[in-house]
Amino acid sequence: MRERIQLEMAPMEGLTGYVFRNALIKYFPGADIYYTPFLVVNQHCAFKTRERRDVDPRNQIGLSPIGRPRLVPQLMTNDPELFLWGCQYLADLGYEEVNLNAGCPSHTVMTKGKGSGMLEDPLRLEQFFDRIFEGRKRQRISARISVKTRLGVEDAEEMEDLIGIYNRYPIARLIIHARVARAGYSGIPERDSFCRILEKSDLPISYNGDILAPEDGEQILTAAEDHDPRRHFDSLMIGRGVLRDPALFRRMRGGPPAKREELERFVEELFEGYAEAMDGYGNALLRMKELWGYLAGHFSEGDRYLKRIRKSRRREDYEQAVRELFCFG
Ligand SMILES: Cc1cc2nc3c(=O)[nH]c(=O)nc-3n(C[C@H](O)[C@H](O)[C@H](O)COP(=O)(O)O)c2cc1C
Repeated sequence: MRERIQLEMAPMEGLTGYVFRNALIKYFPGADIYYTPFLVVNQHCAFKTRERRDVDPRNQIGLSPIGRPRLVPQLMTNDPELFLWGCQYLADLGYEEVNLNAGCPSHTVMTKGKGSGMLEDPLRLEQFFDRIFEGRKRQRISARISVKTRLGVEDAEEMEDLIGIYNRYPIARLIIHARVARAGYSGIPERDSFCRILEKSDLPISYNGDILAPEDGEQILTAAEDHDPRRHFDSLMIGRGVLRDPALFRRMRGGPPAKREELERFVEELFEGYAEAMDGYGNALLRMKELWGYLAGHFSEGDRYLKRIRKSRRREDYEQAVRELFCFG
């Protein structure tokens, strides 16, 4: 992977909280930026306990609120005042950057005009940005604001207008998941549309969507070259690819693939970490089952063992199924 390219761990709700991030950085470091799953500022200007813990700098091992590798908290709200409150809270904790979720395609989120729902009404999006950037200046909030977006709601053509809006604000970075909201997480990312948008963007850009191997990253960088004379595209964000192969960032920097023992220690540490953070192995098991839905893809016989992992109700059954997967999978 080219030296100048920044690597970013995507936010994934229910999967990439601090327990996961700490274990990933310990065994498989390599990304420059890690995002928290979205935090919601509620109407009373407060976060849930779980969300406060996830951004508490004391819970981060190996990740700082500034510099590299750093943690960037993500907020999901369409209310400028609530966003500013969250930004201030996070800046007070020392965070250098706060990310806005303008990409979540969930129906319930979108019907409230949040996540990708923010893209449905460009005028409202503009008013939201007016208020948050003006408020940030007025309140002297030190944190910079980045945005994670989709190409549109229904059609990637929508991005032609949206990029005009994004360009008007001092957005620290625009992360583009190269799908429209309607596509959810499936189908092939619209890489041509992504490349065309580069010609019109004045902001630093990250590409996101279906990078599963170093070659996928190289491919999009090569495809973008002719469309990006000003070299604004300088970063790749990866989610599911890293859950499937935790050593992917290392491989992208030319390092070796994951060894089985490394992976084994990584999942052991995760299970223990979740049990401690979530008061017991029952909840930890649920978390691990979700992760294995991705990680099993790493093993040739993964599907067979995944069924056993999913069926396990007790800690002992789970651990036995995982041991067998590492031996025979
Ligand atoms: C289970 C799950 C949870 C996610 N949670 C978030 C989230 O909290 N915030 C966000 O911006 N995107 C979220 N995403 C989207 C990912 O960050 C990423 O944009 C998407 O998975 C595409 O990238 P990938 O193909 O590299 O996984 C989530 C995706 C999945 C599958």
